[in-house]
Amino acid sequence: MKDLKTIRGMPDLYDVDIERIALVENSCLEVFKAFNYKEFRTPVIENKSLFQRSAGETSDIVQKEVYEFEDRNGEKLCLRPEGTAGLVRALITNGLISEEIKKFFYIGPMFRYERPQKGRKRQFFQAGVELIGESSSKSDVEVLLIAKTILDKLDVKYCLEINYLGGEKSLDSYRSYLREFLQANKSEFDEKLYSRLQRNPVRAIDSKDENIKEVLKNAKDITNFLSEDEKLAFAETIEALDLLQVEYKINTNLVRGMDYYTGTVFEFTVDSLGAQNAVIGGGRYDNLIEELGGRKVPAIGFALGIDRLSEIVAIQDANNDIFIGCADVKSIKYAQYIGNKLRLNNNNLVIENYLGNANVSKQLKKANSQGFKFVIIIGQEEQNAKKFKVKDLQKDKELTLNEKELMEYFDGR
Ligand code: HAM
Repeated sequence: MKDLKTIRGMPDLYDVDIERIALVENSCLEVFKAFNYKEFRTPVIENKSLFQRSAGETSDIVQKEVYEFEDRNGEKLCLRPEGTAGLVRALITNGLISEEIKKFFYIGPMFRYERPQKGRKRQFFQAGVELIGESSSKSDVEVLLIAKTILDKLDVKYCLEINYLGGEKSLDSYRSYLREFLQANKSEFDEKLYSRLQRNPVRAIDSKDENIKEVLKNAKDITNFLSEDEKLAFAETIEALDLLQVEYKINTNLVRGMDYYTGTVFEFTVDSLGAQNAVIGGGRYDNLIEELGGRKVPAIGFALGIDRLSEIVAIQDANNDIFIGCADVKSIKYAQYIGNKLRLNNNNLVIENYLGNANVSKQLKKANSQGFKFVIIIGQEEQNAKKFKVKDLQKDKELTLNEKELMEYFDGR
């Protein structure tokens, strides 16, 4: 059975786990639709070069986390590690980039070869939105509001951390400054780490490494390198958040893990999740579409980690309505006919047709333990008389109803 084991970091999902995941997914869908975002589905497999050109050659994702392989034709492909690049690729290849504002959402599995731990898997699910074609803080605010609405709907207490990275020019001067700063502190790092930091100095800012943190705590932050227009744009977003009474914390060390970000970046974190506490991450990527071969069109979005969020949402007890049992196997066919009629009569009901061989008292125990509200046991007698005993398990009472009364009794429940 060795070769039949599950792949590390890719758990099978069932039972209460899938109920929690469905709750998060449905809440996301409801909110995306309420903001009039349209679904976009792209393949889980893309060319590896797409992520080298978007997340960046020096990002952790491309350096160590991409599930890559060659197909039978020798094409270098990979399982998508995130959704933004694939969506942008799809907009370009389908000729969907225009001046008009476009709003999309997606839900699906992503793959990263990370060290599995609580809140970190190798296959995980994201629900994301991308707002394409608007550069002003109006779009930042809308996207932040969508994220906040989902968390509020799920009754999750969060902290929103926000920062502003600036465009290519500001980021370039920040990078040059950091390179010089790192050079002045070269003796603090070993050769390999030093050259990694030099290649992508902005990523050093949010490093978890205590040594790097200690050295960089004396470095200037990005705000010193923003243009007046960029400072103004960030101030506008912050002003709108104040007006909407969205609480936030400005964190000038928040730079995010992918190279495509420019302007606003943000993360929603949840205290109770431990080390992997980011449930939503996102930001503006005004150059990505052009860099991937499209027109120069600004964009902003986020992705929500469905698995992480599902760990902390409260699910309601199963809403099971009617258990239809059988006094003998011969009656199952008729019991299925009655079950089907009840479902057609009221499609909100959850109705189980018992298909096993257990005796009636065991069936009643099963119905009770699974939280059903009503039990109807069908045997030859019921079939002949066309009368049914409906046991109300919550009120502990029994009613005898004919077929028409039965339908009426369960109509609109
Ligand atoms: P990200 O921050 O890499 O951003 O991922 C977003 C969220 O996905 C994280 O906050 C986390 O909840 C979840 N996540 C990431 N990796 C894992 C993992 N290994 N296991 C479980 N959950 C995970 C992006 O992916 C960007 N594409 C977001 C974006 C959209 N930016 C602009 N538009």
